[in-house]
Amino acid sequence: MTNKPIALVTGASSGLGENFARALAASGHDLVLVARTGPALEKLAGELEQSHGAKCEVLVADLADADQRATVAARITDGAVVDTVINNAGFGHYGAFSGLPLTGEVGQIEVNILALVTLSHAALGVMVPRRSGKLLNVSSIGAFAPAPGGATYSATKAFVLSFTEALHDEVMKDGVHVTALCPGFTRTDFQQRAGVKTSGVPNAAWSDAASVVAAGLAALDRNQAVCVPGVLNKFVAVSPRFGPRGLTRRISAGVMKRLDAPQAPAPG
Ligand SMILES: NC(=O)c1ccc[n+]([C@@H]2O[C@H](COP(=O)([O-])OP(=O)(O)OC[C@H]3O[C@@H](n4cnc5c(N)ncnc54)[C@H](OP(=O)(O)O)[C@@H]3O)[C@@H](O)[C@H]2O)c1
Repeated sequence: MTNKPIALVTGASSGLGENFARALAASGHDLVLVARTGPALEKLAGELEQSHGAKCEVLVADLADADQRATVAARITDGAVVDTVINNAGFGHYGAFSGLPLTGEVGQIEVNILALVTLSHAALGVMVPRRSGKLLNVSSIGAFAPAPGGATYSATKAFVLSFTEALHDEVMKDGVHVTALCPGFTRTDFQQRAGVKTSGVPNAAWSDAASVVAAGLAALDRNQAVCVPGVLNKFVAVSPRFGPRGLTRRISAGVMKRLDAPQAPAPG
């Protein structure tokens, strides 16, 4: 490592995480890249070292596994000082809950919630006494309404939003930044891994990963509690406040139907 600030990014092997790593390398960070797919991380590390002179540690870990979560947490608490933690790794399975394998539903809770809580605890445990540091947790626009057809996923993201907002206020006085990023539909491998078709989602609803990441990092820099990138997504986030919850659930179920959710999820 050099004397540059270090950022740790989970889920750096593709999509938003890869874009976080690229943006942070471009803004002068060294990196700790975390995911299960070692070769993708190694390739990205080589590229970022070449293009930005960023030193990259590759930390291959399955965040659904408690011991491997502990290893990543130990990198934050015990290794060279980590200035920024991006809890980005996550996945969703779609379909009626009762027809989905329990392992996938529990897996979402392990990765989307347990890993994020474990690494947030490690991060704030060292950042608060140091009175500096930044933590960004990736939630979703799905956090703002229950989603029949994606019940577990939207509930995990509601947890992330509520949890992160509370942390933001807890550490505000300590000089530590905490932000929840709530993207809408973003072009990554996410939907394909979830086994859904997206042809029914209008073009206007999609964002590109680089612009979502730029919005998230700008919000983290100014210590904004919640960042919902995109005008349409902001409207979607706010509108459930003004209607009855039954109507919100029906609208949400309508969006999920447009994903043509299969009953059996793809692995991932
Ligand atoms: N794309 C969207 O439309 C959208 C919208 C709202 C929120 N989000 C959120 O954005 C985040 C990033 O998703 P994405 O869109 O970039 O999807 P993606 O391209 O599928 O990337 C997901 C990342 O999470 C990692 N990951 C998944 N399970 C893991 C595990 N058990 N252990 C370690 N890493 C794991 C994957 O790496 P490996 O497979 O190599 O482990 C991958 O790098 C997720 O939290 C997702 O919920 C996405």
